[in-house]
Parts: sequence; structure tokens; C-alpha cells
Amino acid sequence: MDYTSGRLARLRARGDARPAPAEALLAALPTPIMVVDESGVILDANAAAETLLNLSRSVVIGMAIDEATGHHLRTMPTDTPFVAYDLDISLPGNRHLRGDLLAAPLPDWPGWRIVALHAYPTAVPIARRAGGNLAAAGAAALLAHEIKNPLSGIRGAAQLLDANADAESRALTRLIRDEVDRVTALLDRMEGFTDTRPLSIGPQNIHAILEHARAVAAQGFGNNVLFREVYDPSLPPVLGHKDSLIQIVINLLKNAAEALGEKGGVVTLTTAYRHGMRMVTDGGDGRRQLPIEVCVIDDGPGAPPEIAEHLFDPFVSSKRDGRGLGLALVEKLVADQGGIVEYAREGIPERTVFRLLLQRARGK
Ligand SMILES: Nc1ncnc2c1ncn2[C@@H]1O[C@H](COP(=O)(O)OP(=O)(O)OP(=O)(O)O)[C@@H](O)[C@H]1O
Ligand SMILES: [Mg+2]
Repeated sequence: MDYTSGRLARLRARGDARPAPAEALLAALPTPIMVVDESGVILDANAAAETLLNLSRSVVIGMAIDEATGHHLRTMPTDTPFVAYDLDISLPGNRHLRGDLLAAPLPDWPGWRIVALHAYPTAVPIARRAGGNLAAAGAAALLAHEIKNPLSGIRGAAQLLDANADAESRALTRLIRDEVDRVTALLDRMEGFTDTRPLSIGPQNIHAILEHARAVAAQGFGNNVLFREVYDPSLPPVLGHKDSLIQIVINLLKNAAEALGEKGGVVTLTTAYRHGMRMVTDGGDGRRQLPIEVCVIDDGPGAPPEIAEHLFDPFVSSKRDGRGLGLALVEKLVADQGGIVEYAREGIPERTVFRLLLQRARGK
């Protein structure tokens, strides 16, 4: 015995076997549906259509279908169902989506049709929006790959030199080795610029980090630079990731040295505790204080005004050989540690300031 018919029979006996009213079905249907007359005017629309068009039913009724979807049905058959696939459907309010348009005649009302829209998921525009970062990811991965090979050679050579070096030179070969190890570790992390693994952050002595970065700069690109330190000696430990913090400061020092150019100048490193200066909200559990301020200041001319708003975007550079990745990396690493970085021109006379605002390590 067929279960369904048995059940139907029982419902009939109770008088409950009536079909749901057509309006209720139409209203509940998750697919946008509209009824269109012979001249293409919308006579009715369900709730899903209201949502899609972002207009109330009373506004939709009386609109032309070509106004609502960017497609008129005049050229399409009226006597048979049809489907148009993969259309660019332009909705009111200058919105667009890709999808299919289905239409079928209503036999009892000549010329009338029922029109359904099937929108595709919006994955394509989202991927497109991420395009800039994805391009940066590709470039960073390529760079990481290209740089890691010569680095191992450099490290090996430093080790060989180390064997015959006097005490003074040994300090330099050690610097080479330590720097190579640090950069290699960072490259491992950076091979995807979009690496979303959380950094393992802990308490760091920011002054030791600044000194390390300054020593690297002095040996490398900072020949024409006079460094000045204005430190707050009572500064509590920063909550951060040591290698990343060193890389951040090196990138900022390199830019400062390049801004000062051949004739050189002064680069000032400052640290300060700014109680209540800045807080950021963090997604869910409230606010994060960023009381530790670290500034890298140079008395160069500042960034060209036309790119000043975009310095942290990848591939923005005013230099002939610049890759425009230094500050993009700085911003990413600072954000990974829950901090922020800003560019400003401040003081009289004006100087260039890159300001890091970082978290304080708790429990000390
Ligand atoms: N201290 C500074 N003074 C003036 N302009 C700066 C300073 N730091 C950065 N800029 C500007 O910001 C741009 C972007 O800097 P970023 O470090 O991202 O790239 P880059 O230095 O050009 O190249 P690279 O990828 O080699 O670091 C620079 O080209 C420069 O115009
Ligand atoms: Mg740079």
C-alpha cells in the first residue's frame, strides 16, 4: 500500500488536503519571481524579487522588466518557456550580477509570462577585489624564492671568513650570519604575502631591537646618516615578534636614509609611552590599547604629495629602482602584531615621521 496515498486519504477525510494558496507559495519561494504582462510591465513580484531588486513590491509593480533587470523580453519567445544563461543583469541602483533569466508563458493570460532570476554566487567580484593583494602575494613569493638561494651562499662565506678573522672582523661576520638567519626566517614566513598564520608574539625589548636595526643600517645603507636616539628608558616591553620588528625598523631606516640621499642628514629614533593615545577595536572582544610609540624621523623632503596617501600600498614607489614593497611589508607585519603604522609630516621645520603604535606586553 502506498504510504503517500494512504496519508492523503486520511487528510482528505479530515478535510485538510487542500493545496497551499498560490500566493503563499510564491511569497515563500526563495527564487525571485515576477509576473509580466504582454508589454513587459511587472504585475506582481514575490518577496525574493523585492530583496534582489532592493525595492518594495509596490514600487516593483508597474515597472518595466527591462528597467528592473536590464533585459527586455520583447525579443524572446512568448509562447514557449526559455532560459537565457550567464547574463549581466543590471539591477536598479547601478548594481550588477551574473545569472540566468528564466521565462515561461501563462497559458490562461495570453502574452503574460512568469520570469525567474537565478543569480550566481558573488565569488568573482570578491576575488577581483583581492586582486591587489594577490598580485603582491605573487611578487613576494617570487622575491622570497630568489633571495633565499644567494643567502645560503653568503652565510657559508661568512662562516669561512669567521675562521680566520680577528675579534673586530668576527663581530662583522657574526652580524652577517645573524642577519642572513633572520632574513631567511622572515622569507619563510613571507613566501605568501597573504600568510594569515598568527605571529607568535611575546614581550620584546624595543630598545634592543632598535639598536640591532641601527647597527645593520650603519653597516649597510646608513653611511651618510647621523643617528640620534631619544628613548624613554622606563618603557615597558612591547608585545610583538622580534624578527618582524627588526625588519620593520630596517625598512623604515632604509627609506629614511634614501630620502636623505647623498648629502645625508639626521635620523632620529624615538620611543615613548603614550597612555590612552590610541585604541583600536579588535573584531570581537573589545578594545586594544596601543600605548607604545616608536618613531623613525628624518629631515628629508617627505614623500611626493601625489603618492603620500598610498605609501603603504604595494608597488607604490617614487624611486627609479624602488619596488614599492618596503612599506607594504611594514604595514602587514605591524598589523600582524596588532599595531598600526602612520606617515606624517610634523614639526617646525617639517620632518618626515613614520610612527608605530604597538601593544604593551601584559603581566610585567
Ligand atoms: N622617509 C621617507 N621620506 C620620503 N619618502 C618616503 C619615505 N619613506 C617612504 N617614502 C616614499 O614611499 C615610497 C614607498 O616606499 P617603500 O619602502 O614601500 O618602497 P621603495 O622604498 O620605493 O622600494 P623598496 O621596495 O625597495 O623598499 C617610496 O618610494 C617613497 O616615495
Ligand atoms: Mg623602501
